[in-house]
Amino acid sequence: MALLKIARMGHPVLRRAALPVADPSAARIVRLLADMAETMADAGGIGLAAPQVHVPLRVVMFMVPAVRAAEPHAPAGSPGGSLPLSVLINPEIEPLGEEMEESWEGCLSVPGLTGLVPRFRRIRYSGVDAEGQAVSRIAEGFHARVVQHECDHLDGILYPARMRDLRHFGFVDELQRSVRMREDEEARSVAAEQPDQEMSQVPAEEAN
Ligand code: NI
Repeated sequence: MALLKIARMGHPVLRRAALPVADPSAARIVRLLADMAETMADAGGIGLAAPQVHVPLRVVMFMVPAVRAAEPHAPAGSPGGSLPLSVLINPEIEPLGEEMEESWEGCLSVPGLTGLVPRFRRIRYSGVDAEGQAVSRIAEGFHARVVQHECDHLDGILYPARMRDLRHFGFVDELQRSVRMREDEEARSVAAEQPDQEMSQVPAEEAN
């Protein structure tokens, strides 16, 4: 196994459409998956797409930590539950309904930054797993978000291009500081107001 170099925003490999994998069981794909898993773990990420490691193929991997799951006590792999590290080769996404929700995202190719990104709340996705077996799952919330984020990489799309309002794009440490300052002000305020919903959560530090 080897640690791979992660491409950063601006590199052309992140802007082009990736190619389908003809043989998911090929030795080079098996090696790529092992190297991607090691690279993602080393970087502290929760998702990674092959173009991010300079390989323009339709391969992604991702996980849903229990702490980010909409229903942390639901069985792993259920729509709102947690998910161990999962591989998806040649993935397809189908939105289930038109409902969108916004939340903070980070990306290993956009280090240090975070932004508020709208995504479909509920999707069905399919593809082939690391064992060459067909996968089809329904996902919602964070699970749906991470899959949409990773699959966007396969079409040359980084999350800032999905944002509606670039005022909600910035450095993680600055945004966390401004949230803390606002919380301090609110604590001092006698007439406590309803905290602004969208900034009531400290931007996430994990990246994908
Ligand atoms: Ni990313």
